[in-house]
Amino acid sequence: MHTFITSAALVASASVAFAAPAQLVGRSTFQVKQVAAGKVYRPGPVAMMQTYNKYAKVGAVAPSVVSNAAAALQSGSVAANPEQYDESYLCPVQVGGQTLNLDFDTGSADLWVFSTLTPATQSTGHAKYNPKTSGKAKSGYTWNISYGDNSGASGTVYADKVVVGGVTATSQAVEAATSVSTQFMQDTDNDGLLGLAFSTINTVQPQQQTTFFDTVKGTLAKKLFTVDLKAGTAGTYDFGYIDSSKYAGTITYVPVKTTNGFWEFTAGAATANNRSLGSVGDAIADTGTTLMYLPTAVTSAYYAQISGATNSAAAGGYIFPCDADVPDFHITIGGKSFTVPGEYINFTPADNSGEQCFGGIQPNTGIGFTILGDVFLKAMFVVFDQTTSAPRLGFAAQ
Ligand SMILES: *[C@@H]1O[C@H](CO)[C@@H](O)[C@H](O)[C@H]1NC(C)=O
Ligand SMILES: *[C@@H]1O[C@H](CO)[C@@H](O)[C@H](O)[C@H]1NC(C)=O
Repeated sequence: MHTFITSAALVASASVAFAAPAQLVGRSTFQVKQVAAGKVYRPGPVAMMQTYNKYAKVGAVAPSVVSNAAAALQSGSVAANPEQYDESYLCPVQVGGQTLNLDFDTGSADLWVFSTLTPATQSTGHAKYNPKTSGKAKSGYTWNISYGDNSGASGTVYADKVVVGGVTATSQAVEAATSVSTQFMQDTDNDGLLGLAFSTINTVQPQQQTTFFDTVKGTLAKKLFTVDLKAGTAGTYDFGYIDSSKYAGTITYVPVKTTNGFWEFTAGAATANNRSLGSVGDAIADTGTTLMYLPTAVTSAYYAQISGATNSAAAGGYIFPCDADVPDFHITIGGKSFTVPGEYINFTPADNSGEQCFGGIQPNTGIGFTILGDVFLKAMFVVFDQTTSAPRLGFAAQ
């Protein structure tokens, strides 16, 4: 669902000045439960602070150079829980002290939530943010976002504390919905979105606001987050560190083109059953999109290998007999081949009879680039990296 923010919104926000980062707070220690498995980056000042804290009762006082350095580093991990059919993944987030389940979306840059300002007719069944508890109104600020699936929402803006997996932003722009489209109304598991694209496409007016990642990134142990979505079970978003237990082999990095505000890169060729499907080209890594949307020629070449597959106007895309043999999909990124298992591409039943199934790969007609959504991402471990002078994406198999 949802998908990348639409170009109309891009155009609308293009002329707005870039906002200064919001106020920050640090954590001096790691929470053990956040990083139960694997190797964890343990910065020196944090280890030193643990020692000072241990001996504080006998008078040990950390030099400010150590405590300041430690306080400037935070990291954490949050669960990404799939909805039915892995349609989207929701993460518990504390917004102004209330816990909401938000769809983390690397294809947009607004953090918006159902709120006490959303009409009851549009918000029944959702957890709601109450800005009156601790929010500071940003007077005169508004937002209005439209997504690629024609869903949308709009409202007003507050500054409030937001905590994701123990990582805290004390003053994050929280966009409180005063109106949401039917798609959001009906999806009662979902209490809003947390955008993780570049802040240049944030829709707040008169001044754009920073994403949660941009707000906290200066305080993270490393300026990156990683995405480890799973098929049919909880995965994680990790902030500030790379957990080497979550991927196989090495991480392949590619440069990111930020001009459109997306995590956009150039992908190579695709194959299935050892046959070339053609070149994929310009692509975005988008956690907020359920499926993969590929060039028309690549898509039709892929389905040419599934007996009985058709592009059905009635079903709204490629379908095939549910018992068909669905080949793995291979895509080259940074010179390395990555695999999406055929079973992920047998996405959902397309009708009540259960005979026809809807494909997890669909044509990108009218979009203009490839979207590598959750069907792709749940086979991968992906690093959204700003530790280098230019942003980059890192890909590894899970
Ligand atoms: C938000 O934008 C949409 C599409 O551009 C428009 O139809 C709607 O009226 C706008 N809503 C508000 C509150 O400005
Ligand atoms: C694909 O082709 C390569 C070399 O042409 C061959 O080694 C490999 O076994 C083939 N794989 C399959 C699944 O046919």
